[in-house]
Amino acid sequence: MLKIAPSILAADFLHLADDVEIVNKYADIFHLDIMDGTFVPNISFGFPVVEAISKVAEKPLDAHLMIVEPWKYVERFASVGVSMLSFHYEAALDKTNETLSLIRSFGMKAGLVINPDVPVETLFPYLGELDYVLLMSVFAGFGGQKFIESTYGRIAMLKERIESEGLDIPIEVDGGVSPANAGALEEVGAGILVAGSSVFRAEDPEAAIKAMRQRI
Ligand code: DX5
Ligand code: ZN
Repeated sequence: MLKIAPSILAADFLHLADDVEIVNKYADIFHLDIMDGTFVPNISFGFPVVEAISKVAEKPLDAHLMIVEPWKYVERFASVGVSMLSFHYEAALDKTNETLSLIRSFGMKAGLVINPDVPVETLFPYLGELDYVLLMSVFAGFGGQKFIESTYGRIAMLKERIESEGLDIPIEVDGGVSPANAGALEEVGAGILVAGSSVFRAEDPEAAIKAMRQRI
């Protein structure tokens, strides 16, 4: 079943408890964007915010690391209650395998992320070591960007490869996702939809989440 992961980056930080409640009630996963101002030209939030959410979260915490040297922070994220941890291949390169095993050694699900300009084939050698894959449908760094249409073909290609290897790894898609493209994304093979602006900036976040679950 399709899972919806609202991105806390687009939440109202003065009233964070209200937005956390929306995820607890209507969605499936908390998506937490961690940016360091070096891997991406933006800084988001860190451990104190993740920990505060963790204390009241009734759904799994999925942290998307947009940071250099991601292996350095794996243990900290485990200790604040994150159960799905992904990092960018571009930030890890030859340390990718070791970072994946480190994540799994703390009992978390391990995910690998690529930006839209990294060939999907780059992920193929790692599929056997992954619990999920995250395909960016915008360039990592900011919420509220326009969905890149070539993502559909990338999801389809990845899905085909996952199936041909007899694996069962959900594909998470992140950036510019809304009720307008959710059905088409599910159709080509997406299993988890990250949505920031289209949930928390919507007049009715509950309706936006429900609309994304409806296949078009
Ligand atoms: C971008 C982040 C996304 C972002 C999505 O770097 O990874 O998770 O919050 O925001 P929207 O849904 O507004 O594109
Ligand atoms: Zn993200």
